[in-house]
Amino acid sequence: MRWLAPISPRRGCLLFALLVALCSIPGSSSSRLVTLDSIVIFTTHEWIPISKPSVYFRCNSDNKTDLLDVKEANSLYTFKGEESWQPLTELPEKKCKRCGLYEKDTFKPDDVFDEWELCSSDFKDGKYTRFKEGQFNATFLCPNCTASAGTADVPCLFLSCQSGAHESSAEVETKKASVAVIIIVSVLVSVLVIIAMFLGYKYWQKRKRERDQARFLKLFEEGDDIEDELGLSNEF
Ligand SMILES: *[C@@H]1O[C@H](CO)[C@@H](O)[C@H](O)[C@H]1NC(C)=O
Ligand SMILES: *[C@@H]1O[C@H](CO)[C@@H](O)[C@H](O)[C@H]1NC(C)=O
Ligand SMILES: *[C@@H]1O[C@H](CO)[C@@H](O)[C@H](O)[C@H]1NC(C)=O
Repeated sequence: MRWLAPISPRRGCLLFALLVALCSIPGSSSSRLVTLDSIVIFTTHEWIPISKPSVYFRCNSDNKTDLLDVKEANSLYTFKGEESWQPLTELPEKKCKRCGLYEKDTFKPDDVFDEWELCSSDFKDGKYTRFKEGQFNATFLCPNCTASAGTADVPCLFLSCQSGAHESSAEVETKKASVAVIIIVSVLVSVLVIIAMFLGYKYWQKRKRERDQARFLKLFEEGDDIEDELGLSNEF
């Protein structure tokens, strides 16, 4: 059976292993670092107009980040994202963080500008603006948080590949290309596996038929022998 050789069961297994390996390429886990791009505060919560506010940002589980530059109400502060206190926080892939903008107070509980759920999915093209009337307007950046192209669960026929959910559009593009390759390879491999199984079955069937025939012929010969013996005995 020479024609069976290229896809022997062992090779089929190897191909299957390759497929599994391809399917389990992990979605590149990118870090979703959030930086502050710009901020305007509209109030200082200060009783004494001349005293300067101490504004800070904090997410529930993180350390607080003092925004030392932010001193004046109604002036726009823009940042490069490289400041010593950046990034503000890092977001998990599918969970939000409760974050807020506060103002430190010495004699009473800290004032709250706002407190909200900061989520990767809020970022559009890596950008998210939080505005609260009379309080502040802040723009946050997170290039790896991009919501749009999101969750690609790639069915690999045998396995389900989960790729990273939120990536920049360039990353998503390359991801799409590799996903297409994975799908094509998966389909080819499954077709090969099916053909191999079919040919294997055919081969087994043929062998069985040959064995049955041989057994049948042998039976016949034995029958002849018996007949001969009977013939002999008849002559007596
Ligand atoms: C995005 O993710 C990549 C890969 O983990 C990382 O190298 C990069 O620093 C991240 N960029 C930002 C701005 O979070
Ligand atoms: C908070 O700050 C402390 C001391 O600077 C540091 O050891 C710790 O890693 C920080 N935690 C986080 C979540 O950044
Ligand atoms: C908040 O700030 C951003 C960036 O500076 C700006 O594009 C946006 O219009 C502002 N929104 C409001 C409501 O002021």
